[in-house]
Amino acid sequence: MSNGYFVGWRTFQIDYFYFFKISRHNTLIYISIDCLIAIRDLVKRYDNLTAVDRLNLDIHENEVFGLLGSNGAGKTTTIHMLATLLKPTSGTATVNGFDIVTQSAKVRGSVGIVFQAPSSDDMLTGYENLKLHSWLYSVPRQVREKRIAEVLDLVGLTERKSDQVKKYSGGMRRRLEIARGLIHKPKVIFLDEPTLGLDPSSRESMWKYIERLVKEEKITIILTTHYMEEADMLCDRIGIIDRGKIIALDTPSKLKGMMGGDIVKLKLVEKKRPNTDMLKNFSFVHKIENISDDGLLVLSVDNASRNLPIILKYIDAESVEYTIPTLNDVFLRSTGRNIKEEAEGGFMEKYARYEQK
Ligand SMILES: Nc1ncnc2c1ncn2[C@@H]1O[C@H](COP(=O)(O)OP(=O)(O)OP(=O)(O)O)[C@@H](O)[C@H]1O
Ligand SMILES: [Mg+2]
Repeated sequence: MSNGYFVGWRTFQIDYFYFFKISRHNTLIYISIDCLIAIRDLVKRYDNLTAVDRLNLDIHENEVFGLLGSNGAGKTTTIHMLATLLKPTSGTATVNGFDIVTQSAKVRGSVGIVFQAPSSDDMLTGYENLKLHSWLYSVPRQVREKRIAEVLDLVGLTERKSDQVKKYSGGMRRRLEIARGLIHKPKVIFLDEPTLGLDPSSRESMWKYIERLVKEEKITIILTTHYMEEADMLCDRIGIIDRGKIIALDTPSKLKGMMGGDIVKLKLVEKKRPNTDMLKNFSFVHKIENISDDGLLVLSVDNASRNLPIILKYIDAESVEYTIPTLNDVFLRSTGRNIKEEAEGGFMEKYARYEQK
């Protein structure tokens, strides 16, 4: 108990140590070393619809966490509750150690949010939008100009800062909104569908800005998306959310690993039944199947690009093809549906277009 601190095990199911401190007002507060957001049994109901269904999740400091799900899965509802814009029906969460229900003002001061729908004032310039937000978030006057310059530089808009936002492209508007969400140096930023409505090349350039943000601002990012590639590319961990529940949670590579490895299809020479005994000895081969009348041998293996030459030493094949599992395969296996079929056109998407007005 030296210096007023002691270390305790938490009482509910998280695996990290917590530091507890008796504050000046003799109240017990806790700061987690690693877990920046702890979500406990969070529920949001709209009449008969349960949009978020007893969600439990820990998000760690400095990670990029992706909530991946189809339209209506509950992504926006979840982050709006975490950012205190919506009240949970039941359950709670702590963000930066503050309770989203009982300490909402403190939560709001330590998070930034970029909405799914466009929300900057397009009659103002980029600079004016940022200045307005720096007032709203009480950024001290002495550092205001410096901070505006920093965030403009971070999102590559310094040269266009004096243009009205209505003259910006979709990608530029989105970047301005990210800059706006960062103006008060939050510890956490929520990016709701950061690339929705952008064309593929603007999407790719947005990913670069998000990567830069991670590096330079040392911030925790929670992003929602229904783009598999985006989640795969940007996120340290992904929670696949379906009907308000997290149904799979891990790093992108471990999620893809759930599929049991790469799928190799070997078309056998003259449909000859091969001797597969040798293959069974290799630890990288997980499954050998389907020696069908078509003369196809289908294998599940780790790292097909490296291990194929070894396999081909033992199997005579006319042709070979292999596929590496994608997050779409994981989504399909977890939900029984294909996310791509459902992308674009859901609950909020009609508001999220960035065409020039
Ligand atoms: N204000 C509301 N009133 C009633 N139902 C709502 C409201 N907001 C959201 N919903 C419903 O809650 C569910 C979750 O919606 P939410 O916007 O969180 O989904 P999402 O995963 O963000 O979807 P999208 O990919 O379309 O943005 C949907 O079925 C939606 O219709
Ligand atoms: Mg949404």
